Amino acid sequence: MNGEPVIEVVDLVRKFGDRAVIDNISLKIHRGETLVIMGGSGCGKSTLLRHIIGSMRPTSGSVKIFGEEITAMNEREIGNVRKRFGMLFQSGALLASLTVGENVALPLLQHTRKTPEEIDEIVEQKLKMVGLSGFENLKPSEISGGMKKRVGLARALALDPELLFSDEPTSGLDPIMTAVVDQLTLKLTHGAHMTAVVVTHDMTSAFRIATRMIMLGHGSIVAQGTPDEIRTSPNPEVQQFINGEADGPIPLNLSQDEHVDLQHVKPRPCVAARNRFHHKHG
Ligand SMILES: Nc1ncnc2c1ncn2[C@@H]1O[C@H](COP(=O)(O)OP(=O)(O)OP(=O)(O)O)[C@@H](O)[C@H]1O
Ligand SMILES: [Mg+2]
Repeated sequence: MNGEPVIEVVDLVRKFGDRAVIDNISLKIHRGETLVIMGGSGCGKSTLLRHIIGSMRPTSGSVKIFGEEITAMNEREIGNVRKRFGMLFQSGALLASLTVGENVALPLLQHTRKTPEEIDEIVEQKLKMVGLSGFENLKPSEISGGMKKRVGLARALALDPELLFSDEPTSGLDPIMTAVVDQLTLKLTHGAHMTAVVVTHDMTSAFRIATRMIMLGHGSIVAQGTPDEIRTSPNPEVQQFINGEADGPIPLNLSQDEHVDLQHVKPRPCVAARNRFHHKHG
């Protein structure tokens, strides 16, 4: 790999209370790569992405995107870097009051001076890419979960980003739509030299798109390598994860240690929910 990495993370640490959710992670991503990040639920994948895009500040460590240190930037400076990347959030994060088309148009309105006609044309083209032509005027509440996900992807691609972050882009999609989204990622990384960082639990999709894979566990990198290296990894945690086995070295739940570490969270009896519920509905 030649040239400067598009993303360089060095010794990243993020603690919540006493618990390091990101525990000294370093990684580099080069142009045109598709890095797949995997790992059990709650291991810190979304938190890692949030630090890379600058929406969370680390406890310590460095994050460079396009060679620029973003951990010390203010909102305006980060805003300038954000124009160059797209982000598909795990929850979709569509604005409920806007139509599908308006959601996709949002980054174009915020970051460009394009005319309404130009914006309409781009919105139509991006929705077509994700198989949603003609859905412009529906509200997010009027489309399915998988469709919302694809609208989120269309919005993330609105500015033709050099860099795409996707947090679970294919969860909730049927196998055919998953293949459509994967092919889109491949086309953009191969054809347009886009760089992609994709968090996914979908192993079919992961092995289809990855040029490199990282498995996280307990806030650190458990394993990394090419898809072939990961497939043949001797690490039992990796094998348990990629083969989806219930029994293995990865525990089902938070360990007792991690429960102890959660003590910074203020306890509230679960019955408090009953009072809130009655207050709202009764
Ligand atoms: N703002 C926060 N305050 C306190 N703890 C947090 C915060 N954000 C995340 N965490 C904790 O960090 C851990 C990792 O969360 P994260 O959302 O990164 O997991 P994940 O790997 O993306 O999981 P999933 O696969 O379920 O999406 C969890 O234990 C979570 O409770
Ligand atoms: Mg997550």
